[in-house]
Amino acid sequence: MRLGILLSGRGSNFLAIAEAIAAGKLHAEIALVLSNRADAPGIQAAHARGLPTLILESKGVPRAQHDSAMLHALSESRVELVVLAGYLRLLSPAFIRAFPQRIVNIHPSLLPAFPGLRAQQQALDCGVKIAGCTVHFVSEGLDDGPIILQRSVPVRDGDTEDSLSARILEQEHIAYSEALELIARNCIRIEGRRVVVCT
Ligand code: GRF
Repeated sequence: MRLGILLSGRGSNFLAIAEAIAAGKLHAEIALVLSNRADAPGIQAAHARGLPTLILESKGVPRAQHDSAMLHALSESRVELVVLAGYLRLLSPAFIRAFPQRIVNIHPSLLPAFPGLRAQQQALDCGVKIAGCTVHFVSEGLDDGPIILQRSVPVRDGDTEDSLSARILEQEHIAYSEALELIARNCIRIEGRRVVVCT
């Protein structure tokens, strides 16, 4: 399964995926790492690993034009699954329709709770006792789409946004590769909003 990774920042989820592939735990290949920001540490890390990278700056570029340039690059690289790994820009409906049920995202909350920015702070503000992360297929709504898997963590007394984010991030790094491996092994079926894992 040829992956196209889209990122805008740190890239720790991308690195966890690359490590899972190197360790033989994820049967996939990174065909392209694409960033909309030249200064994203994640794209520098990808370059240092010798992976194919591409920067398509999005600042000041209309979304439709930027997304169409990304679609072109992804198709040139024969990408089969688009993996959003901290990609901080909304995708156009045309982009989403070009990869039906072939775009996945990770979000640092137990969706459908706390979509959008600063999900971990939203969880703290709400006083929930369990937080976590979600890997899901991307639909046209914000942080929406059939859920592939979730991992939970406790919220501890005295947690800050940083401490909770760090605890969730550890689980993100496990969850993303697990979800991708289910897709790579053709182990999942989408039934409406539900993702069924074949046994
Ligand atoms: C992660 O918290 C992820 O859930 C969210 O953006 C963050 C990206 O972190 N979508 P990183 O760039 O993978 O380190």
